[in-house]
Amino acid sequence: MITLSVTDREGKPHAIKTTPDGTLMEAIRDYGLTDGFALCGGHCSCATCHVILDDAVLPMLSPVSDDEDGLLDGSDHREAGSRLACQVALTSSFDLASVKIAPAD
Ligand code: FES
Repeated sequence: MITLSVTDREGKPHAIKTTPDGTLMEAIRDYGLTDGFALCGGHCSCATCHVILDDAVLPMLSPVSDDEDGLLDGSDHREAGSRLACQVALTSSFDLASVKIAPAD
């Protein structure tokens, strides 16, 4: 098990315990943070799973695809640590990682 420190759109922290498989979006959704989140179900077409990750995990991620980059560019809230959670594969290296769900666009 790993624990993710997730801050929701209202600024409330959640300690999400999950197995290090699947995607970050699935872990957040399965925990129950579903209000306006991940509306396309992980098909990289909605950007409602936009999250901001801490610097520690960024080097472990696969590169941003052109599709993901285009969706993130459409957000008013893109930051250096922005990713679409449905495109982020969880590994054990995510234990104790900080994840902030970006404001809705
Ligand atoms: S769930 Fe829609 S882009 Fe990630």
